[in-house]
Amino acid sequence: MQEKILILDFGGQYNQLIARRVREQNVYCEIKPYTTTVDEIRAFAPMGIIFTGGPNSVYLEESPHVDPEVFRLGVPILGICYGCQLMAHTLGGQVTAAQEDTAREYGKTVTYYDTGCKLFKGIPEQAISWMSHGDYMAKVPDGFALVAHTDACPNAAIADESRGFYGVQFHPEVNHTQFGSLMLRNFLYEVCGAKGTWTMGDFCKNTVAQLRDTIGPKGRVLLALSGGVDSSVLAALLAEAVGDRLTAVFVDHGCMRKNEGDEVEAAFAKWNIHFVRVDAEKRFLDKLKGVEDPQRKRQIIGAEFGYVFLDEAVKFGITKEDFFAQGTIYPDVIESGAGDADVIKSHHNKLLPREVIAQFKAVLEPLDHLFKDEIRLLGKELGLPDYLVHRQPFPGPGLAIRILGDVTKEKLDILREADFIFREEIAKADLGDICSQYFAVLTNARSVGVMGDGRTYENVLALRSVTTNDFMTAEWTRIPYEVLDRASVRIVNEVPHINRIVYDITSKPPATVEWE
Ligand code: XMP
Repeated sequence: MQEKILILDFGGQYNQLIARRVREQNVYCEIKPYTTTVDEIRAFAPMGIIFTGGPNSVYLEESPHVDPEVFRLGVPILGICYGCQLMAHTLGGQVTAAQEDTAREYGKTVTYYDTGCKLFKGIPEQAISWMSHGDYMAKVPDGFALVAHTDACPNAAIADESRGFYGVQFHPEVNHTQFGSLMLRNFLYEVCGAKGTWTMGDFCKNTVAQLRDTIGPKGRVLLALSGGVDSSVLAALLAEAVGDRLTAVFVDHGCMRKNEGDEVEAAFAKWNIHFVRVDAEKRFLDKLKGVEDPQRKRQIIGAEFGYVFLDEAVKFGITKEDFFAQGTIYPDVIESGAGDADVIKSHHNKLLPREVIAQFKAVLEPLDHLFKDEIRLLGKELGLPDYLVHRQPFPGPGLAIRILGDVTKEKLDILREADFIFREEIAKADLGDICSQYFAVLTNARSVGVMGDGRTYENVLALRSVTTNDFMTAEWTRIPYEVLDRASVRIVNEVPHINRIVYDITSKPPATVEWE
């Protein structure tokens, strides 16, 4: 029988990350809403259950709760943050709003672990965890031991090992928590008894079979291809599933990086698929004229993409019996506001107009449960070349969300040149491995400078680089000063209208990768 973990979703921002971390350990998991009934849980037959975090306070009547019967299923449970408080509250403990400011914790926190507890096996006695809670467990339930503490909080983790119940106040799924992955692995392997039998090869085989089944023997597919990792991997998957019934449309919206359109065309011209390049610069820039709000820009671009695809579908005789496919991935879904989580930014591929969707039999998004690093593994599984699999991600709305404020052709040209120089310097310094995503941002600030003997009053350009696996959390990259210096000197000298360069030193959270 397949090993399965159930993740019960209480609306936390990192829920998809928990799923990602579980699958990283080769254990299959599914996320289901907290309203899932005990009978449904029994039918799903999980070997363990994880309660996620969430924005609520467990002692309030209207907050999400679980049927206490879930604790009598004989299945181990790990509660994270809100999930931990929920476990304490339901089993007879007491959770209150933190009375003292010191008991409210946010950010990286030194944490002391009881390494005799199964959950913390192999972890040092002291390490950093990522906290984000305002509530506090004033009393833990009978039968539970305190198995981790911080300087501010005596009960950072609780455990009743005889029943396999564990609760942590911090977020082990976030990279900022040192050894967090090992804690989750311990829960899966040491507590639930997993062997780790789920692989990307299985996912690939099953997805191709499902796509064939859905599309049928005659169905055609129009794929939105950006040339990025996600849509390229989807192109390979669809090519495998339906061969030449796939038409891949690459839309150049005029907000691409320098040379990008030609590079994408060159990469796909070699493939045995029907590749179409559409030059839609004017169409997009007209629509974006004067628009400053980031969400609005995304909406306009998302919608316009849809209309361009529709025009192409008509041109190529693709009908209502056919399918539209796009490489939406998990973070796009969650950050666009799935479930109970807050909307951070609406990723453009969640913004297709209804009338566009209505022109196809269905929209196929078979990658929408995978994270970026899983997509890369899948790409390798499908035999994609390294340069496609390891391309740094590029957002669908492109440079439009790297120009703060309104977007014009002039600004795009300035940014393209500056961004190109930065990328060239990173490549020359061979920093591709530590810089997971790196780019320039044209701010809408101007500053005074002096060039030659003259005063200048020009644009401030920001450089950004992050180091991350999953793009849900990220550290700013410690690029050597000499590399930053070379990029800065070259950009100010070679690109007109820029007289000052700043480097972004915020991580995610609290910032995001893109500035808009
Ligand atoms: P953020 O800025 O949300 O970025 O921390 C996380 C990752 O998502 C990319 N990103 C987008 N990708 N459409 C996309 O296709 C979008 O609207 C969008 N916004 C952000 C971003 O480049 C990073 O890799």
